[in-house]
Amino acid sequence: MYHSMRYEATMPSGKTVTSASSGLWMKSLKHLVFFSSLCCLISGYSERDRVHDLMSRYPLIDGHNDLALQLRILYNNQLSQIDLHNVSKVATDINRLQAGHVQAQMFAVYVLCGAQEKDAVRLTLEQIDVIRRMCTEYQDFELVTSAQGIVHLDIALQKMAESSSKIYNVYQRENNSLTHFGKAVVEEMNRLGMIVDLSHTSWDTAWAALKHSKAPVIFSHSSSFSICSHGRNVPDWLLHDLKKKQGLIMVNLHSKFISCNGEANISRVADHFDHIKNVIGAESIGIGGDFEGATSFPRGIEDVSKYPALIQELLQRNWTEIELADVLRRNFLRVFEEVERVRDQLSLNRPSEVQISVEEVQNPCRLVLRPPNPRRPSDTGPSSRAQNGPKGLLILAILLMLSGLVMIE
Ligand SMILES: *[C@@H]1O[C@H](CO)[C@@H](O)[C@H](O)[C@H]1NC(C)=O
Ligand SMILES: *[C@@H]1O[C@H](CO)[C@@H](O)[C@H](O)[C@H]1NC(C)=O
Ligand SMILES: *[C@@H]1O[C@H](CO)[C@@H](O)[C@H](O)[C@H]1NC(C)=O
Repeated sequence: MYHSMRYEATMPSGKTVTSASSGLWMKSLKHLVFFSSLCCLISGYSERDRVHDLMSRYPLIDGHNDLALQLRILYNNQLSQIDLHNVSKVATDINRLQAGHVQAQMFAVYVLCGAQEKDAVRLTLEQIDVIRRMCTEYQDFELVTSAQGIVHLDIALQKMAESSSKIYNVYQRENNSLTHFGKAVVEEMNRLGMIVDLSHTSWDTAWAALKHSKAPVIFSHSSSFSICSHGRNVPDWLLHDLKKKQGLIMVNLHSKFISCNGEANISRVADHFDHIKNVIGAESIGIGGDFEGATSFPRGIEDVSKYPALIQELLQRNWTEIELADVLRRNFLRVFEEVERVRDQLSLNRPSEVQISVEEVQNPCRLVLRPPNPRRPSDTGPSSRAQNGPKGLLILAILLMLSGLVMIE
């Protein structure tokens, strides 16, 4: 069973959030396969058995989970205080991941926007650390850092321009859906083999990034705007562009994005799957549960052990096993392999040296390093020494981006 994770690095400079992720591999798959084979032998092969058999053969690769954020909020990242096999305060633990046939999980390294221009970088590093420790302290998790075809996961999320959120005006830029720097980041992600994730961007930014990217892009946790008109969901016109790019939308299960109010059920979730399938086909769909990142989930899918209930509902709605195998994992693997293929094509390109322009960063916490002015040597006195703090922070942020990038290679 492998899990992957995402690194989100919020630069102290302000508007840029970049993240990379790699995967973990969870090992106890054999038990599940064995168990489900037994089920088939016992007479009365029910629909439930059929689902477990299918999911044993095609275990889920899920696009988004915020467990690391909850580990911070609930336990201050003290893994010694809990057993990750069984964590009753959250909806995600190893026992339930196994029960839900979740083989791969992208764990977000997310820091709330309130940390912007404060200690976002420190918090992000600590969140990366806690996920790495999950992998070293539990044999069930493994960080995937290289790919032989199916198990190599490099994920990145880009938010270098407009956000989907209207709450944070600072991220809204009229007629500037993807800045010069944003385009450079997309190019660099293509070069590195990082998947561009558009779930938190505005639609215009999503469209611009999708057009600019040489590789397929994904929405790692977004649902259908036609079924529930929430800004985090994807409208049909954009789905068509996504399909043309051979990209993927991994449906978010959060009740607010499913039914546009606090209450939802599995049937409503399946409506999103049906609609997106009608618009762009099952080969463009995945699942990005968003557990731990949201408060309410539909009745019947309250935690990560409940994914089989969703697959059962889709089987009842005449989705074929081939379509469901695609949705569970094969679509994601196809996208990822294509991203790697593009990376290989670009292997002769040099690393990007584009920097975000000072004008785009209206943040007092930014230090611009230039050669000292030879005509006014006194200027380089105590006042410049006083700025060592912010400089340290900036260098840290750059190192952070680099370490995110290096880790996935
Ligand atoms: C998980 O832990 C709770 C106590 O926190 C306990 O009651 C329960 O039996 C445990 N479940 C498993 C499957 O170990
Ligand atoms: C953005 O573009 C629209 C038309 O596409 C135009 O009406 C509007 O004035 C522009 N806004 C800015 C800030 O340039
Ligand atoms: C599921 O929720 C929808 C509203 O979102 C409702 O119309 C439907 O009756 C519910 N189905 C079940 C089985 O509860």
